[in-house]
Amino acid sequence: MEIKITPISPEERQSPLEDISNIVFGSQFTNHMFLMEWDQGRGWHDARIEKYHALTLEPSAIIFHYGQEAFEGLKAYCTVGGKYVLFRPEQNFARLNKTARRMCLPELDEQFALKALKQLIEQDIDWIPKAEGTSLYVRPTIIATEPALGLKQSASFLFFIILCPVGPYYSEGFNPVKIIVSEEYTRAAPGGVGEAKTAGNYAASNLAEKEAKESGFTQVLWLDAVERRYVEEVGSMNIFFVINDEIVTPQLTGTILPGITRDSVLQVGKHWGLTMTERKISIDEVIESIENGSLSEIFGSGTAAVVSPVGELHYRGKKYVIKDGKTGPFARRFFDEIVGIQYGKVKDPFQWLEPIL
Ligand code: COI
Repeated sequence: MEIKITPISPEERQSPLEDISNIVFGSQFTNHMFLMEWDQGRGWHDARIEKYHALTLEPSAIIFHYGQEAFEGLKAYCTVGGKYVLFRPEQNFARLNKTARRMCLPELDEQFALKALKQLIEQDIDWIPKAEGTSLYVRPTIIATEPALGLKQSASFLFFIILCPVGPYYSEGFNPVKIIVSEEYTRAAPGGVGEAKTAGNYAASNLAEKEAKESGFTQVLWLDAVERRYVEEVGSMNIFFVINDEIVTPQLTGTILPGITRDSVLQVGKHWGLTMTERKISIDEVIESIENGSLSEIFGSGTAAVVSPVGELHYRGKKYVIKDGKTGPFARRFFDEIVGIQYGKVKDPFQWLEPIL
């Protein structure tokens, strides 16, 4: 399928901000966006790149009422050598299709979606920020657009990609965050959509996140919905625990988002010869390991957050300070390595960088 490109006129063109180090994550968008529609009988059609603009949808569109959608988050970087690259984009499009299958959305041709993304970024190439710690965040999204209040699978869809220059995800930057274990709420139950990257998972976590923030925490640590015992993930990140010589992350059981940064941390750790374990880990084991001194670090991983140290964990009204509230050596090492690969500063033995141009 051909991609029709309508670049905006030089007068309309906005220039990227010089300094985005203090920009709120996801608050400023580039000049262009990619769109294409899907209809029954026609499949995907009208692939195009045009000026970033508001969407016009019927108020009855299914997305507004029943949340039928899938989204992704990935990043483009300008390396220290001046090359423009995407980090593991094929993984994001594979996961987008996995979410699409679960949410009854039409799948994309992954190669075509990557081509479309590259052509879109090419239009806004000067928006890839160059300063360390900054990148161009990419948000591919599929939504159900059919106007219909009867509960049904939509017969029409829209796929779009938007881009925004970003700095650190948390206002803390790469400084330890405080997380609180949610006892009242759960995020995902077996058989549900916990492993899908879909809006409802995030909407459903809002209340717990709001309450956590009001009490001074950055995010919520979720436990499994059945036993309320096993650690699952944090609001926008997967989670890792350093216990003795083992680095443990909850195994993917269908209720946890299969994070691409999670996978990168696992691969990098194994490459270094560390013991990286995916297994069930209970909150009791975490607390016990903190209390007996065998747990030395907790850190989260995510595309937006990269690697984020956890300095405080709250559970059942008790505060547990991790690593004196400071960044530990493993979080630092993983952060430096993954960010180093993304900016082309360290060797990439995994071939994770995809050239854009
Ligand atoms: C990401 O890390 O890219 C995500 O999609 C999480 C989102 C809450 C920012």
